[in-house]
Amino acid sequence: MTGPARLDLVVRGGTVVLESGTLAADVLVRGGRVAGLVGRGTVEAGRARVVDAEGALVLPGGVDVHTHIGITFGEHRTRDDFASASRAASFGGTTTLLEFAFPEAGESPAEAVRRRIGEAVGACWTDIGFHAAVVGEAGPDSLADVEVAARLGCPSVKVFTAYRGLMMLELGDVLAVMCAAARARSLVMVHAETESLVERATAELHAHGRGGSGDHARARPPGAELDAARSVLELARQAGAWVYLVHVTLPEVAAEIATARARGTAAHAETCPHYLVLDESVYDGRCPERFVCSPPLRAPHAVRGLWRSLGAELTGIHSDHCCWDSTQKAASADDSSRVPPGLPGVETRLPLMISQALAGRLALTDVVRLCAAAPARLFGLPAKGSLLPGMDADVVVVDPAARATIGELHMATDYSPFEGMEVRGRVDTVVAGGRVLIERGAWVAEEPGGRFLRRHRLPRATAAT
Ligand code: URP
Ligand code: ZN
Ligand code: ZN
Repeated sequence: MTGPARLDLVVRGGTVVLESGTLAADVLVRGGRVAGLVGRGTVEAGRARVVDAEGALVLPGGVDVHTHIGITFGEHRTRDDFASASRAASFGGTTTLLEFAFPEAGESPAEAVRRRIGEAVGACWTDIGFHAAVVGEAGPDSLADVEVAARLGCPSVKVFTAYRGLMMLELGDVLAVMCAAARARSLVMVHAETESLVERATAELHAHGRGGSGDHARARPPGAELDAARSVLELARQAGAWVYLVHVTLPEVAAEIATARARGTAAHAETCPHYLVLDESVYDGRCPERFVCSPPLRAPHAVRGLWRSLGAELTGIHSDHCCWDSTQKAASADDSSRVPPGLPGVETRLPLMISQALAGRLALTDVVRLCAAAPARLFGLPAKGSLLPGMDADVVVVDPAARATIGELHMATDYSPFEGMEVRGRVDTVVAGGRVLIERGAWVAEEPGGRFLRRHRLPRATAAT
């Protein structure tokens, strides 16, 4: 055996999963980074801490670019904060979070970014970065803040075509944000649903004495998502902006992305685990309000189509984590338009996708690509999403033989939309930046050591990107 000096940690005996394939290797960690991948047992650990990964899969820590932690939405506030959400994320093998900085009343987008960074640093167990957001209207100061946010290390900006009076921008304002983002080499993330179509569908349900949570899929119809997606893809083409559709639920939207790309638009998109493993039948079951999210869960044929778009038009799977509890959800259950939208899921995202892989629905290398590597590239995080030497030592050890039923979790809520679901594989040990957070299922970290991630800007969008 040979051995470089001063290793801090060795993850011993596992099967390392890279985007390009799997290999039997030990992961050497020094100074918070991967120092090498070497043949099993070929390097002495010396005084380094050893994590036993015999028989286990070893993945890079998950990168979740779509979370809502400790946010206010209308009169509601999510139950979690940066400490609890990042701890729960860790239990699910996610070690990098990209969270939104929604401006509060009277606050500019750049002020919101600075405030959110201040709130997260010192509280987060995982690394974290932020997206700026322009909500309500896009005045000149807000538009100028797209560049300010990029200079602060946040080269992405969120806009909504939905949620009138709260977040929604008119399409003219969306175009203005896209032009500012193109200049700043920043990515425009869009929640695409045409609000007037949602409002019309909801009003018709109400006129017939309906519109409770059981009608949620009818209240936000597929046409609203498709219409908005087409519009924003065209605006991105006009602006020459990078555009990213969040929480896509429809294969028809994926097809629009393919068309936009063929025309030279730098168009990307994600979906979420709930759109892949659940469908609209949950709205006919118990507590339908617990599944209220925008867009809603869709018909089984749409779910099947979405799976076919994975890895092509849909290059990421992210949680859209929103930590409401069952009491908050139940309070307005008889009117789905008043139920706080979104599902808790930062902890279950990666385990659900690993489980799908172990059941043969996609490759483990695809899980690494969709849940870590591709988003790390798109969102300007060159040290994340892989276990190749030089990368951040964010390491997740998974027992592929374990089986469990989703039940007790660590998120600051009392339910999961996936409760009772059987999953294959179990996250056993989690290392973030070389620090062991979880060992054999038990929390062992003492100090939150998550860092604020300053991200790289995108290249200029061209017809070739
Ligand atoms: O229903 C959802 N998705 N809630 C979270 C906010 C958003 O629209 O992403
Ligand atoms: Zn959204
Ligand atoms: Zn969201």
